[in-house]
Amino acid sequence: MSPPIFFISFFLCFSTEITPYLFSFLNKIWDSVRMTILIEQPEFGIEVEEKKVPNSEKDLVLDGGFVQPHANAFGHNFRDYEAESERQEGVEIFYKTNHINQTYEFVKKMREEYGKLDKVEMSIWECCELLNNVVDESDPDLDEPQIEHLLQTAEAIRKDYPNEDWLHLTALIHDLGKVLLLPSFGELPQWAVVGDTYPVGCAFDESIVHHKYFKENPDYNNPAYNTKFGVYEKGCGLDNVFMSWGHDDYMYLVAKENKSTLPSAGLFIVRYHSFYALHRAGAYKHLMNEEDEENLKWLKVFNKYDLYSKSKVRIDVEKVKPYYLSLIEKAKQLDSLTKDLFYRLVLSVSLSSKETGN
Ligand SMILES: [Fe+2]
Ligand SMILES: [Fe+2]
Repeated sequence: MSPPIFFISFFLCFSTEITPYLFSFLNKIWDSVRMTILIEQPEFGIEVEEKKVPNSEKDLVLDGGFVQPHANAFGHNFRDYEAESERQEGVEIFYKTNHINQTYEFVKKMREEYGKLDKVEMSIWECCELLNNVVDESDPDLDEPQIEHLLQTAEAIRKDYPNEDWLHLTALIHDLGKVLLLPSFGELPQWAVVGDTYPVGCAFDESIVHHKYFKENPDYNNPAYNTKFGVYEKGCGLDNVFMSWGHDDYMYLVAKENKSTLPSAGLFIVRYHSFYALHRAGAYKHLMNEEDEENLKWLKVFNKYDLYSKSKVRIDVEKVKPYYLSLIEKAKQLDSLTKDLFYRLVLSVSLSSKETGN
C-alpha cells in the first residue's frame, strides 16, 4: 500500500463527505510530511527529541530510532531456542505438541467454530486487563503478564511513530486473541493459541523453529499437503492461506467479522506477527501477492517493537492508560458526531468465542 493510501484509509473515517477533497489534499500532506521533523507528544514528560519520518516506503524497515537491547529478561539473546534457561525445555515441548497437532483439518475446524463469534463481548480495554491472567509459555523472552507486553509494544512504537495512531492501536490489540487460553473463550491449550505460526495445507518450511517435530504431523506425509504449493496457487495472497491456529488468526477473524476498517497493514500485522518464517526467514513468498509485499514492510517495523520491547522494565499501566482511554473516548465522540467507521469499528470491536469443551 502506498503512503498516500495509508493516510486516505486512516483519515477517511473523519468524514465520507469530503473524500474527493481528501484525496488531493492528503497527497500533498504526504509530500510535506516526508520532510517533517516530528516532536514527541509532550503529555508524558518525555524529552523532546527529533526523529525523521521515513521518506520512502523502502525506508519503512528503519526502526525510527528504536534501540535494540542485547538480551532478554533472562539475560539470553532474543528468540534463542537453544539457550539454557528455565523455560527452554518447556518451550521445546510446546513446539513438539504444536507441530504434531496443527493440521489443515484442525485449522479449518477452528476457523469455522471461532468465526461465529457468538459467546463473549467486551471492550478493548476490558480485554487488555483480562490478559493479566495470561502467561505465554511459548515465549522464551517474556514471563510478564500480557498487558505489560501490549503496552510495552504500543508505547515503544508510539515513541518512535507518534503520528501513526493506527499502529498504536494495532499494537494494543495484536495479542488480545490470547484470551483463547481463558475458560470463557474455550480454554484452548497453549499449543493452539501461542507460538510461531506457519501455513498449513502446504509443505512446512525448514526455517520454522523445531521443524523436526513436523515429521509426526499427519499432513507431513499427505501428498495433498506436503508440496511447495499444496492446496494453494502461486501468488494467491496470504489472505487465502490457512495459518496454524492461534491468537493471531483469531484476532484477525474478530476484526474482519466485526468489519473493522483498520488499515490493511494493521490487519496484516495482527494476522502474521508470529509468522517468523516469513518476516524473519523470507519463506513462503511464493504465496504472497502485491498487497502482501507492501504490508510486509510495516510488519517488519512492528516486529522489532513486538520482540525487543519485552524487558524487565515494567510499564506503569496507570500512567499510560489515559492515552489509550482517550483514543477510545475520542472514538466515541467521533462516532456520535461523524459516524466515524474506523474508530467505531476498531475500538468497539467485540471479542466472541464458542465454548469448545477443550
Ligand atoms: Fe502475538
Ligand atoms: Fe506480541
